[in-house]
Amino acid sequence: MSFPKINPTKTKAWDQLTAHFSETKSDKMQDYFANDPNRADRFSIHWNDFYVDYSKNRISETTQSLLLQLAEEVKLKEAISAQFSGVHINETEDRAVGHTALRDFTNMKPEVSETLQKIKGFTQSVIGGTWKGYTGKSIETIVNIGIGGSDLGPDMVCEALRYYHNHLEVRFVSNVDGDHTMESLKGLNPETTLFIIVSKTFTTQETLTNANTIREWFLQSGTSEDIAKHFVAVSTNLEAVSNFGIAPENIFPMWDWVGGRFSLWSAVGLSIACAVGYENFENLLRGAHETDVHFKSAAFEENIPVMLALLSVWYNNFYEAESECIVPYSQYLNKLVAYLQQGIMESNGKGVDRNGDPINYQTGTIVWGSTGTNAQHAFFQLIHQGTKIIPTDFIGFAKSLHGNEDHQNKLMANMIAQTEALLQGTLGTTVETAFKVFTGNRPTNTILIEELTPKSLGSLIAMYEHKLFVQGVVWNIFSYDQWGVELGKKLAKGTLQAIEKEDISHISNTSTQNLIKRLS
Ligand code: F6P
Repeated sequence: MSFPKINPTKTKAWDQLTAHFSETKSDKMQDYFANDPNRADRFSIHWNDFYVDYSKNRISETTQSLLLQLAEEVKLKEAISAQFSGVHINETEDRAVGHTALRDFTNMKPEVSETLQKIKGFTQSVIGGTWKGYTGKSIETIVNIGIGGSDLGPDMVCEALRYYHNHLEVRFVSNVDGDHTMESLKGLNPETTLFIIVSKTFTTQETLTNANTIREWFLQSGTSEDIAKHFVAVSTNLEAVSNFGIAPENIFPMWDWVGGRFSLWSAVGLSIACAVGYENFENLLRGAHETDVHFKSAAFEENIPVMLALLSVWYNNFYEAESECIVPYSQYLNKLVAYLQQGIMESNGKGVDRNGDPINYQTGTIVWGSTGTNAQHAFFQLIHQGTKIIPTDFIGFAKSLHGNEDHQNKLMANMIAQTEALLQGTLGTTVETAFKVFTGNRPTNTILIEELTPKSLGSLIAMYEHKLFVQGVVWNIFSYDQWGVELGKKLAKGTLQAIEKEDISHISNTSTQNLIKRLS
């Protein structure tokens, strides 16, 4: 089984979509709704406790069928099977892509279930208070030290599941900015703090710098023999971890077939399991697995990630939309967008196709956003009346967790009203000045979920994972490598030497030279 390598712009569907776009680009969604009483049913997917309404998009049945034809022509089915079969679809790193295997309890790899058992035992002892620090006290605070995929996922999920937290406080240190590190250590008691160093490679400058600084901080109170009681690590690089001084029994494995930005389902999620308990962590995984099954088995027109991806391609490549916005109407999800930015932009920010040729069409979408209703009072002006088309995902939960009906009704009223305003605009109403005109006809998806639970959160995250994969398949790019982050890392080494040694002789340009000179 091989991974298809088809230039989407050479397909018949692409030509037809191009022609279709010129014919329909001035169509109004308002008319689509007026002419079709079944539009909302036709363009929505009800799956488990998700209701995905994509009817407020600039599409007709013809658009949908052409997009589905595009998916066929780029061999999306084969690509999905290739990913799930373990073929090395991450060809530039010669790796399989196996994050879905981390949550497949029906067919689990032995090393994955062993690691889950280890996570279970560890978290039970930390939460239950039997894991003791060097003075015999139980753990009160967990500090996750990691960056990128070793930080954003666990941090986002810990925040999203705050309602389900136990007594443990969880903190995240990521930036090499020492002020961040020192602020994160403020008020911590070394006797009751456990540090989880998370680094797939265990070579990441930020994480190792922070880990070393924090170890020194710890050694001001404890001894090196006490490190075993206060430092654990998650990594593929066992040798580097033990060189750091972490006891072998305190190392949680990772595997090269799991990409950093898809790794929260592995032991990288240890801080999540500490914060909400193993059972909730397992439910998160089970929710993601349900999406995996849906993604693998649902017909494309009933397939949430596939439909969301194709819509995104429609706007990105035909409407030339510059960006997409994501607005969760839940304050618990206030870190979701930052998390998805890594997932989506690190995966699909590529300008070379799977044949190694430069690309002459648009790929990776720019993703941004923040929580509603706050966002309404910040950047929504631009979405309503700006000159750009900004397809927006609205994510909401039918039930609130704390059950405050008045707040919940207002929250949902705002979310739904925004999608209505973006669709309808001021059409049909009398408006005194041009400044108060809303054209409407602005695309949105509404993802309405029953309740924010570990399971539904897992399903939601997996939905975006698969969406970005589908986009990458259509664009004929490799979504699972990230070579674009390497050059900056490499150059930072030479720049650091120049700063430390106050020697700019090997720096070739005057701009960089001047900047370095100004630091001393
Ligand atoms: O620099 C980008 C990156 O490689 C991400 O892909 C990854 O999530 C992050 O760095 C952290 O890497 P590691 O887990 O190896 O420290």
